[in-house]
Amino acid sequence: MCTRTDVMRNLRGFLKSALVVRECRTRPDSLIGFAPALINPRGSTTPAFGFPAPTTAREYATTRYSEVAQKETNYFADRTHTCRFAENDVMIMHADTNRGIEVLLNPIYNKGTGFSLAEKERLGIRGLTPPRYFTIEQQCEKIWANLTEKGKTGMFRWRSMQALQDRNETLFYRLLVDHIEELAPVIYTPTVGEACLQYSRLFRRPRGMYFSADDVGHFNAMMYNWKNDVSVIVVTDGSRVLGLGDLGAHGMGISVGKLDLYVAGAGIEPSSVLPCVLDVGTDNEELLTDPYYFGLPQKRIKGDAFMNIVDEFIQAVKNRWPKALVQFEDFSTDHAMPILKRHRENVLCFNDDIQGTAVVVLAGIYGAMAAMGKSPSAIIEQTFVLCGAGSAGMGIANFIHAALVHHGLSPQQAFERFYILDKHGLITSSRELKEGEAGVDDLRPFAESRLDLPDGLKLKEVIEIAKPTALLGASTVNGLFTHEILSRMGKLNNNPIIMPLSNPTSRAECTAEAAANATEGRAIFSAGSPFDDVSKSGVTMVANQGNNFYVFPGLGLGSILVGSDYISDGMLNAAAEAIPKTLNDGAIQRRAIYPRIADIRDVSVKVAAAVMKQAVDEGRENRGGKIAHMISRDGLEGLERYVRSSMYYPEYRPTVFSPGSGRGTL
Ligand code: NAI
Repeated sequence: MCTRTDVMRNLRGFLKSALVVRECRTRPDSLIGFAPALINPRGSTTPAFGFPAPTTAREYATTRYSEVAQKETNYFADRTHTCRFAENDVMIMHADTNRGIEVLLNPIYNKGTGFSLAEKERLGIRGLTPPRYFTIEQQCEKIWANLTEKGKTGMFRWRSMQALQDRNETLFYRLLVDHIEELAPVIYTPTVGEACLQYSRLFRRPRGMYFSADDVGHFNAMMYNWKNDVSVIVVTDGSRVLGLGDLGAHGMGISVGKLDLYVAGAGIEPSSVLPCVLDVGTDNEELLTDPYYFGLPQKRIKGDAFMNIVDEFIQAVKNRWPKALVQFEDFSTDHAMPILKRHRENVLCFNDDIQGTAVVVLAGIYGAMAAMGKSPSAIIEQTFVLCGAGSAGMGIANFIHAALVHHGLSPQQAFERFYILDKHGLITSSRELKEGEAGVDDLRPFAESRLDLPDGLKLKEVIEIAKPTALLGASTVNGLFTHEILSRMGKLNNNPIIMPLSNPTSRAECTAEAAANATEGRAIFSAGSPFDDVSKSGVTMVANQGNNFYVFPGLGLGSILVGSDYISDGMLNAAAEAIPKTLNDGAIQRRAIYPRIADIRDVSVKVAAAVMKQAVDEGRENRGGKIAHMISRDGLEGLERYVRSSMYYPEYRPTVFSPGSGRGTL
């Protein structure tokens, strides 16, 4: 029951609130207005989003206002993410955007219940949103509570996140940044794979650009249909989407998801990313016969005609955005390497499946060096036995080889550090390698360096002879690393490096449990699939898992900021060395070799700065010497500050009209 005193209190509270409104209006827009509905209509004392519950209307009003005012003060005074550009402190609306409802329907400008009163007046939306004001943190809390309700599936979360992105982009990215560890597997693998399978049916609003075989000859002109300037493009032909095979135009889900991780992980400006699909058809019969499939319903174009389409795309990108980074994603194995080789020096680009994966494995090796209390250059003391000479195995071997050379070995000495086996056993100089077969060129120098041993030796014998410090698997053979093999590794080394990299878990060469059992938990373990940490007689063996997410955002950001037109092996190596540098002492002691995904922004800062420094050292800077000067003046720390200040951080900035639009005055 509401007493007369309560009414009076409410009235006083309301009058005080009204004064606050006036006060707000006289101050710059940076001060958020307050919500007029501060008087709790039902007299409820339920705390809203964890704030202490006010007991009277007056208290409610005062508390709310001071919180709101405090929030705004913090925005400018205490934020850790300082921006280099003054315009980053405001959201400048596009000159074409009208006042009123258009603002709310535009996901870039929409803040839902997060508009200040001053903004509502300025943007002509007063009355078009509910009266109460909520901060972005409160909005996130509400959505997070909904997403994490019991029984909600990965697909529910994926759909909810898509819907959020469609209506309020800032909030979408803020949620992603704040809960990156939990949401990266939703936005990207594994849930995005599920979404890609049914992408035509899930299609709601267009995102990114489709370049189909029917558009050949028009790619150049089509690029101009995209309004914004672009700095990062992810492109796929959907021919090998995750482990799901050919998904044709549904590959768009992968390009979109990956770029969301660029934004969240490295603060790439959302307006400057462009997800792309090259739709050259699909060989997936299910899609070809699906009446709702939205891609070209035809068989894949292959051979030279396919390569010409890729060439036309790259040329069109270069014409429109010459400095943009192109990331090749999920191209089938037979095309991935030829495309990379063809365009690596032609456009700023890299292939995450090939290079990103190799960098993350190498980062794990550097992490293992740190766990053993050694410097990265101790990599030259390691001996590697690698099971699997397919594209994954050879990609990893080549890249570790380059790192050994980088740290001072001659190419020949570096080849001799490897013992590579395939299904026939050890590969040596006496193996007949067939000319023209895929991967043979990469394998040959490794094979030729092993002229001391008989071809085809089994793994057990190779271990006895090589006495390796590291055992790597990319063979797809489950259980290949037997208890006997793992125990021997444990006897040969205090901390053997054991990396069963084959995916999925059912193909892993060994489990974490097996590695821990055979080595009394002393192994430095990292797998391609997720395993739980294992405790053995008081010792916990961390089950590390490599993830390309540690690499690509920072690598992309660094190469753009330094203005390089090429991503060299040296830059990739710098990225790998930088990743374990974010590990703290506790993590290193536990033999964790990768950082936490939750720290991805810190990882990306380190990776980007290291990549930039390496590019400068190699003479690849294209910013008029600015970055080199910065390094010589402020050191690597100064460079890291610069990188951090360049990162987009999703928060509500006061929205203003473009000065040229003439719509700014009320
Ligand atoms: P692939 O089929 O091209 O190559 C497999 C290789 O393993 C072949 O050289 C084969 O002769 C060899 N092999 C088979 N049985 C063997 C045995 N008993 N002993 C030694 N070698 C044996 O496969 P691909 O594409 O190279 O991928 C291999 C695995 O690596 C896959 O499971 C893939 O998921 C995984 N992978 C893992 C990555 C990671 O970072 N975790 C990155 C990329 C791939």
